[in-house]
Amino acid sequence: MDPRVKEVYGRLWRYVIPHKLIGLIAVVAMAATAVIEAAMVWLVEPLMDETLVAHDLETARWMPFAFIAIFIGRGITGFATEASLGRIGRSVISALRREVFNKFLTLPLRFIERHATGPMLSRMTYNVEMVAESVTSVVTIMVRDLLTVFAAMGIMIYQSVRLFIFVMILLPIIAALIQVLGKAFRRYSGRIQDSVGEVSQVTEEVLTGNRVVKIFGGYNYESERLAEVDERNFRQNLKLIRSRAFGVAVTQVVFGVGVAGVIYAAGAESVNGNLSPGSFMSFFGAMMLMMQPLRRITNVNATLQRGIAAGDSLFRIIDEEDEVDSGTYRSEDVRGKVEFRNVSFSYGDEDSPVLHDVSFTVEAGKSIAIVGHSGGGKSTLVGLLPRFYDVQSGEILLDGTPVQDYELANLRSNISLVSQDVILFNDTIANNLAYGQLRQCTRAELLQAADAAHVMDFVKDLPDGFETVVGDRGILLSGGQRQRVAIGRALLKNAPVLILDEATSSLDTKSERRIQEALSTLMQDRTTLVIAHRLSTVESADQIIVLDQGRIVESGTHRELLDADGVYAGLYRMQFSGEQ
Ligand SMILES: Nc1ncnc2c1ncn2[C@@H]1O[C@H](COP(=O)(O)OP(=O)(O)OP(=O)(O)O)[C@@H](O)[C@H]1O
Ligand SMILES: [Mg+2]
Repeated sequence: MDPRVKEVYGRLWRYVIPHKLIGLIAVVAMAATAVIEAAMVWLVEPLMDETLVAHDLETARWMPFAFIAIFIGRGITGFATEASLGRIGRSVISALRREVFNKFLTLPLRFIERHATGPMLSRMTYNVEMVAESVTSVVTIMVRDLLTVFAAMGIMIYQSVRLFIFVMILLPIIAALIQVLGKAFRRYSGRIQDSVGEVSQVTEEVLTGNRVVKIFGGYNYESERLAEVDERNFRQNLKLIRSRAFGVAVTQVVFGVGVAGVIYAAGAESVNGNLSPGSFMSFFGAMMLMMQPLRRITNVNATLQRGIAAGDSLFRIIDEEDEVDSGTYRSEDVRGKVEFRNVSFSYGDEDSPVLHDVSFTVEAGKSIAIVGHSGGGKSTLVGLLPRFYDVQSGEILLDGTPVQDYELANLRSNISLVSQDVILFNDTIANNLAYGQLRQCTRAELLQAADAAHVMDFVKDLPDGFETVVGDRGILLSGGQRQRVAIGRALLKNAPVLILDEATSSLDTKSERRIQEALSTLMQDRTTLVIAHRLSTVESADQIIVLDQGRIVESGTHRELLDADGVYAGLYRMQFSGEQ
């Protein structure tokens, strides 16, 4: 076995081990099933020889009761097996799903942003199911099927050693077939998972981007895109089904030939007087009983391989490095001095740098505005402070301590953010405002923040008020309403450092001005980093830096920059020429 397969297999077992007790019930139930099934075959001999051939009345009387007992027992053990294995399977699914989900929460943004959502989603659904199916199948084979095979063999040996030896010659051939086919399955199953991910990716995009699809007439393009990935999925599944069915067919043919041989050999034995009709029927019954489990072993091997492929892709995520959180410094009293020292940054190792040698200082409680052309690196710059990404060179300090030295949670608890793309969850307005650690806020605090961010203005007209559910990503609110909720959330956090990345870009001038007023009161005692394309909102900042292609090309106050008559003055004149 290849070492990775072995490792995945071993790790999968670790999810089953906590369910030892139920596992024990399952094992006992499966063992009982095997014994009961063997007993039934065993009874064929007295049924034939004593009841039907020798007309023994005594046996004829108890025989029906024995069969009733057998079927009742089979029902009970069957139920116990299904219920306990089902429970183990579902528990494995839950455990894995939660583990992967929690991993998504702690993975670095770098990982999340570089992987498409669809395949990630399919891991949470398809792959975990696959793993559980595989685990329960393995348990079934290891216990019930193997025991059934052994019990059947026992009966066969008891009835006729010579016939048994004959049958045993067939087994290695079947085993070889199992081996060959198992390899083919593993190859297809990995690809199937990929194509399932692609299907969910395309579907998700069509659902979330439905307006774009409609207005730009994306019907044909999207349906072709789906047809393409679906076709791939279809073909791969078909290959898997075919190879599986082929495996079954080949095995059956081999068995068929074997059965013919057994019948021939049995005829010879019978003629020699070594085999009674009952013994033969019992032997034959035992052999048939063994056939199903053996066939299942071939089939389940495919499922097992599939489970391993699925488990492998899950463990790869679980094994990904978490965000680096090695800092130990904590501060409950951050004042908010922010310092960038010669910071250079690029998103990927091969990507060209987004920031070059950026240095500036914002004293605690002061504000800085960052302006510049689109794509200049403004959002990137402010994202480095809460360590969404780590810098490659230079240093970022909060209150004189490098941000890497802070405990990540402590660092982030001191920073509030209104991001450029507003993220709302499909929940009520109240829960979107009081999100995460803000959950504990009082109603009064919530109302105050909602008021300052002018969320109140529209909430009061909604029939459900704060309990209105905002839809996926807040789609049921207007752009400006969403933005106000995001501002309210940031205000509620009441952190010493506030980052506003185009926080008021979706608002009309009047609302913007009103929120600006609310913000400026708040900005008085906290450090604020403001990004805005509308320069009217940055005029009052204590300091303005102009970022151009990742470099600071100018800095100073609004007045100083206008007097210097450089890039900022140019931008400013351009914006206001139309309005004067
Ligand atoms: N998550 C990311 N991964 C890789 N590259 C990124 C990522 N985010 C931004 N970039 C790249 O970094 C550069 C700077 O982007 P950034 O978002 O910081 O610009 P910006 O100044 O905020 O622009 P805008 O005014 O349009 O918001 C761009 O060239 C962009 O392609
Ligand atoms: Mg930006």
